[in-house]
Amino acid sequence: MDMVATSGAAGAHLVPVETVAQDAVEQLLDLAFGQDRHGRTAYRLRDGVVAEPRASCAALDEAGLLVGSLQSWPLALTGADGLATPLWLVGPIAVHPDRRSEGIGRAMLRRALGAIDRSGIPAVLIGDAPYYEPFGFAADQTQGWQVPGPVDHARLLARTESGTVLPLEGMLGPRHSA
Ligand SMILES: CC(C)(COP(=O)(O)OP(=O)(O)OC[C@H]1O[C@@H](n2cnc3c(N)ncnc32)[C@H](O)[C@@H]1OP(=O)(O)O)[C@@H](O)C(=O)NCCC(=O)NCCS
Repeated sequence: MDMVATSGAAGAHLVPVETVAQDAVEQLLDLAFGQDRHGRTAYRLRDGVVAEPRASCAALDEAGLLVGSLQSWPLALTGADGLATPLWLVGPIAVHPDRRSEGIGRAMLRRALGAIDRSGIPAVLIGDAPYYEPFGFAADQTQGWQVPGPVDHARLLARTESGTVLPLEGMLGPRHSA
């Protein structure tokens, strides 16, 4: 179990997300993103695939209540030639409003990215660059990518090992095969 080094007196700890009731995760996501969240483009990117347990996690408080969750999904960038580059879609990441700015979000990201690094497959997400840049995410490689829905390309971020070059163009979508 990973403990989160928090700035407050109380602590939280990270556990596999599949050990947490799915209802509780959905309620937390409603709280963080609103109940209309299912219409977001990110949801189209993971339509029909299941979250990867090793690249996902949840944060529980001292009483065992859910205060954070992060799920990652198999994603692919498919070129005009039909060749697919495997990727991971990271997110949604959510922390309960009462427990923000304690480091829980960053602790969940570190844990998920550790698993993603071991997979050798680059991570992609839709999010605010200032939060994710310290983890190596950037928008420079994604500007020519197509997405099945509206997206602000400044928020379409990819994280590669230094020197790894991703295709300049392609369509993002769920990855149904390994
Ligand atoms: C984004 C979120 C997961 C961060 O969780 P958290 O546990 O509060 O994050 P941490 O404690 O690790 O980091 C907090 C820091 O990130 C900053 N931060 C939070 N959200 C940010 C954002 N969208 N853009 C830039 N910085 C952000 C905070 O201001 C804080 O800065 P500080 O350390 O200088 O005080 C949480 O705010 C949340 O659930 N937001 C609603 C859902 C959401 O927007 N998810 C992300 C989609 S991109």
